[in-house]
Formats: sequence, structure tokens, C-alpha cells
Amino acid sequence: PDRYAVFGHPIKHSQSPRIHALFAAQTGQDLVYTAWDVAPERFESQVREFFGSGGRGINCTVPLKELAWRIADSRSERAERARAVNTLALRDDGSVFGDNTDGIGLLRDLRDNLGLHLVNAKILILGAGGATRGILAPLLAEQPARLVIANRTVATAETLAVEFGDLGPVEGCGFATLAGHRFDLILNATAASLSGELPPLPADILAPGGSCYDLAYASEPTPFVRWGREKHAVVNADGIGMLVEQAAEAFLLWRGVRPATRPVIEALEAERR
Ligand code: ATR
Repeated sequence: PDRYAVFGHPIKHSQSPRIHALFAAQTGQDLVYTAWDVAPERFESQVREFFGSGGRGINCTVPLKELAWRIADSRSERAERARAVNTLALRDDGSVFGDNTDGIGLLRDLRDNLGLHLVNAKILILGAGGATRGILAPLLAEQPARLVIANRTVATAETLAVEFGDLGPVEGCGFATLAGHRFDLILNATAASLSGELPPLPADILAPGGSCYDLAYASEPTPFVRWGREKHAVVNADGIGMLVEQAAEAFLLWRGVRPATRPVIEALEAERR
């Protein structure tokens, strides 16, 4: 069977091997997908070793996506915009191609699975790191009325807004300046969830009928998911759907078939109940 892997640090709780095993079973593809704990210092040599010994594709997760962007020989347009790569594929000529399926994965989950309409919506993104960088272009392509990036370090949000300003109405600010504004959709892309924290948010920032989405996921509801519940978010989801959707896009790149995602999302959700 062809070999694939996810590289990350840490990697223990990765759901990717399960997701790809379910995809392979569903589409009748013969492949093996394993998880590797790879520290940044060893990333490049491990990639060379994996591809040199017959591996066909690698998913890269935190904190390796920027490094993966750097070592790819060629890249998709969406990876170029994100300056981050979550999917590496070995080409027939031996070169390494880099793609980024995070943004399209989020969009498919928001739009196709959760039924959210982003056209003319007022969108707030919390955080201005790698996760935000990966989703800005596809979100702006949906033509929201307004997209605000709020970050603890204000300058990072402002820089991102300038960098993506050609794609739509995007602004950067700090959490303190959010008071008095309301949003139809709030996306949490900070790493705060992972440490059990929540960025400071004004109580009335979610517009009536608005929705919340945490790009992170965990076996227990994240602090942001609990916040969304308190605020009566109409749709209130974590990133499990995005995870499955970005995996499906990687699978498509590698195998030429797009697996059905709904049964896989349902299988993962059932385990958490
Ligand atoms: P990722 O690739 O997951 O986006 P990252 O690039 O390190 O990781 O970015 C982490 C993001 O989470 C940043 O926006 C960071 O804010 P700063 O730019 O000010 O560092 C944000 N973040 C991390 N911990 C946070 C916390 N406790 N409260 C608020 N924001 C936090």
C-alpha cells in the first residue's frame, strides 16, 4: 500500500490517521496513514527520509506549516497566499508540491455542512497567527460586508489586514477596541483554547441570530464553545468538521477521489457523546 503521514509536534491526539483510514475504507483505496512526532529541527530531514523511502504524501500541522511552505519545490496559489502548507505531495518527477487545504476545509464546513451564509456577513476572527493566515483569502472570497481581525498583539492583526487588503474589506485591531461592534459570525483562531483560556470579549459582541466557530477541537467543549452557548449562538461548532474537510481535500490531491465527509464527521462526533 502507498504510505502517507501527518507530521506535528505534539501529535498524540491527532485524529488524522483515523480520518484517512475511514476515507480509504470508504473509497476502496489501499493506503497506510500514520502519525509522526517531528520537532521543527528535524522536519526537513524527516520529510526527505519519508519521501526517499517510498512515502507519497504528508500532512503538516502545528508548528510545521510555515516550514513546510519553505521546503516545498512548488506550491498552489492558495498555499502561496497563506504562506503556510498543510499538505505535501510527491510528484512523479521527484519534486515536492505544497498545498494548503485549511481555508477550503473551513469554508466547506461553514457553508455546506453548517449552512451559514457569509455574503454580506460581518465576520470577526480572534487571533492573527498561522491559523488566521490560512483562512483569510477563502473567507474574503465569500464577500462579507466586513472582516475584522482582533489580536492580543495589535500590530500583527494590522499587518495581516494590510497584506490581505486587496481581497476585501479587512481590518485589524486589538480586543479593547471591539466594544460597541456586533458580528454575525465569530471565529476563534487563537491558540488560547488549547490552554483553556478565552480572549476578552465584550458581552454583546455577537449579533442576535449570530454564530460561533472554534477552529480548535477537543474531546471536551472548548472555552470558546462554552462562551458561544452562553451567548445563544444559533450555530455553535468546533473545528472537527473543518478537520475532516481539510483532510478530504488532501485525500483528493493525493488519490484523485474526494471521499464523502458527512459519515466521517458523524463517526467522530458520536465518539464524543
Ligand atoms: P496558530 O498557527 O495556531 O495560529 P500561532 O501562529 O502561534 O498559532 O498564533 C497563535 C495566535 O493565538 C496568536 O494570534 C496569539 O496572539 P499573539 O499574536 O498576541 O501572540 C493568540 N493567542 C495565543 N494565546 C492567547 C491567549 N491566551 N489569549 C489571546 N490570544 C492568544
